[in-house]
Amino acid sequence: MATLKEKRTCGQRCEDFGRFVWNSENGTLMGRTPEKWVYISLYYVAFYVVMTGLFSLSIWVLMYTLSPYAPDYQDRLKSPGVMAWPDTYGEEILEIIYNTSDKASWKKMSNCLHDFLKPYNDTKQLECNHHNCTKGKYFIQKTFSAPDHTKWACPFTQSMLGPCSGLEDPTFGYNCTMPCVIIKMNRIIDFLPSNQTDHPPYVNCTMLEGHENVAKIEYFPENGIMDLSYFPYYGRLAQPTYVNPLVAVRFSLIGKKKAKIQCRVVSDKISYQNFYDPYEGKVIFDIQALK
Ligand SMILES: *[C@@H]1O[C@H](CO)[C@@H](O)[C@H](O)[C@H]1NC(C)=O
Ligand SMILES: *[C@@H]1O[C@H](CO)[C@@H](O)[C@H](O)[C@H]1NC(C)=O
Ligand SMILES: *[C@@H]1O[C@H](CO)[C@@H](O)[C@H](O)[C@H]1NC(C)=O
Ligand SMILES: *[C@@H]1O[C@H](CO)[C@@H](O)[C@H](O)[C@H]1NC(C)=O
Ligand SMILES: *[C@@H]1O[C@H](CO)[C@@H](O)[C@H](O)[C@H]1NC(C)=O
Ligand SMILES: *[C@@H]1O[C@H](CO)[C@@H](O)[C@H](O)[C@H]1NC(C)=O
Repeated sequence: MATLKEKRTCGQRCEDFGRFVWNSENGTLMGRTPEKWVYISLYYVAFYVVMTGLFSLSIWVLMYTLSPYAPDYQDRLKSPGVMAWPDTYGEEILEIIYNTSDKASWKKMSNCLHDFLKPYNDTKQLECNHHNCTKGKYFIQKTFSAPDHTKWACPFTQSMLGPCSGLEDPTFGYNCTMPCVIIKMNRIIDFLPSNQTDHPPYVNCTMLEGHENVAKIEYFPENGIMDLSYFPYYGRLAQPTYVNPLVAVRFSLIGKKKAKIQCRVVSDKISYQNFYDPYEGKVIFDIQALK
């Protein structure tokens, strides 16, 4: 009887391995007949086909229930925030302080507004937003009828800001004591600012301090109205050429030429007394002209 641990030469081992790979006696390849290998391969092919199918199905179901045009969770944003330009922040709040006799000082303000208004360039707007919008009505769009499967957006041109457009007066009134401040309301997808179509949202600025230093407040466009045709906003993918409507406010500063101003966007769906969000529905800033 041979011992279990038979000493084997290297040549024998190689031969054994060769026989394992292809055993010509019983016609097996790696210990199995070619026929068996075919069955095993078929089994795995079927297995992976089913797995891929399940995976694709679950992805499809997920995508089917998601709208590619709107984020799923935006319940934290019910009422929009309001911002003002030139956006020169001080310690805590916006401080629009400039020196009428120092060109560098007021140039900084007017350059900021020129930069901010770049997307509102008349030529640019009439090129990319050439839809003829009906003023005074929500622009509800159920279909994607604009080019490239998108929705139309209404043009807002800088010339709509009249004397605060930077076109007639490139200084925006900062070389004297009639500075312009531009108010913008943040966008919220599908948000309708008012449930009554005859009451569009409008900007109302009031003086919190320094009443005697502001002779006049003017709004452009007229009455500080944000036309309803700019609402609702459908999202970046659905409305790639959308621009927010703006309101410019011109202050005529007198006396000490210093005031604290609050500008609110007034509408029945816009709240402004959120303790946790001081920018909800309003913006507060200091304005001061030095000499
Ligand atoms: C305003 O600018 C002028 C000219 O540069 C300067 O003389 C004046 O002191 C400045 N006023 C203030 C309050 O900084
Ligand atoms: C608006 O754009 C046109 C063309 O790009 C340019 O010629 C014009 O100077 C721009 N206007 C303003 C006010 O920047
Ligand atoms: C836009 O529509 C109004 C009213 O239908 C019409 O008077 C005006 O000519 C139109 N403008 C353009 C550029 O098509
Ligand atoms: C301010 O600039 C405008 C436009 O360039 C000019 O008409 C006006 O006279 C200037 N005002 C002062 C006080 O320099
Ligand atoms: C508009 O909404 C406000 C508050 O949500 C409500 O008090 C008011 O009755 C509504 N008005 C109309 C005409 O639906
Ligand atoms: C603007 O707000 C002030 C203070 O809340 C109010 O007295 C005034 O009537 C408002 N103006 C308009 C046009 O709503």
